Amino acid sequence: MTRFAVFRRVVFAAALTPAAALVYWTFTGDFTANPIDFITDTTGTTALTLLVFTLTVTPLRRVTGRNELIRLRRMLGLFAFFYACLHMLTWVVLDWFFDVASMAADVVDRPFITLGMTTFLLLVPLALTSTAGMIRRLGRRWQQLHRLVYVAGVTAVIHSWWVVKADFRQPRLWALALCVLFGFRAWWALQSRSGSTRTRPAFQNS
Ligand code: HEM
Repeated sequence: MTRFAVFRRVVFAAALTPAAALVYWTFTGDFTANPIDFITDTTGTTALTLLVFTLTVTPLRRVTGRNELIRLRRMLGLFAFFYACLHMLTWVVLDWFFDVASMAADVVDRPFITLGMTTFLLLVPLALTSTAGMIRRLGRRWQQLHRLVYVAGVTAVIHSWWVVKADFRQPRLWALALCVLFGFRAWWALQSRSGSTRTRPAFQNS
């Protein structure tokens, strides 16, 4: 097995760890005093962290010249979506127990929930079109569609910022990471206008 294949498995195991820990704590009953808050925070934080990591892959690949890094992108993107699903399901099942009317009211009444839902809905088409077959079928439109991942990054950071009441260190860090990533992409776009490079969308494997 190549060193990169080992690294990929390590990243896979690391991305799965928060979910495994949640399952473990469910069985051991080792949750905090407020389990719903804890699950919401863990799944939300992991989803956003993985989304930011997904956006980091392409710049990192360019800076390091290691093309194989691109093979991590789809995996990280799908893991981000997986945690976003768990996060959303926590709200649907544990917060509201499938009470559709109350959920609809929550989405309308609380702007941070509106943005969370917007982020989730932006991620759905990206996850659904992440297969090799969809990449082939959609062609150039696929690339345009997958630019939505940047919008999802912004709405997710604002959503998480809105949640925080006192300690803004974490959302500030995410916002800073996004600014750096966008700065990089803007600079790259300016360069590619004059010639050779071509942007690669997120959630793509090769
Ligand atoms: C259906 C969509 C969503 C709903 C209903 C939702 C709901 C929530 C709720 C209720 C909280 C906790 C608020 C509190 O502690 O007072 C929260 C926090 C959070 N959510 Fe979401 N969310 C959604 C989508 C997302 C998505 C897609 C992401 C990331 C990609 C995300 C990332 C976060 C983060 C990072 C936090 C803050 C965790 C912390 O720092 O404690 N959310 N969300």
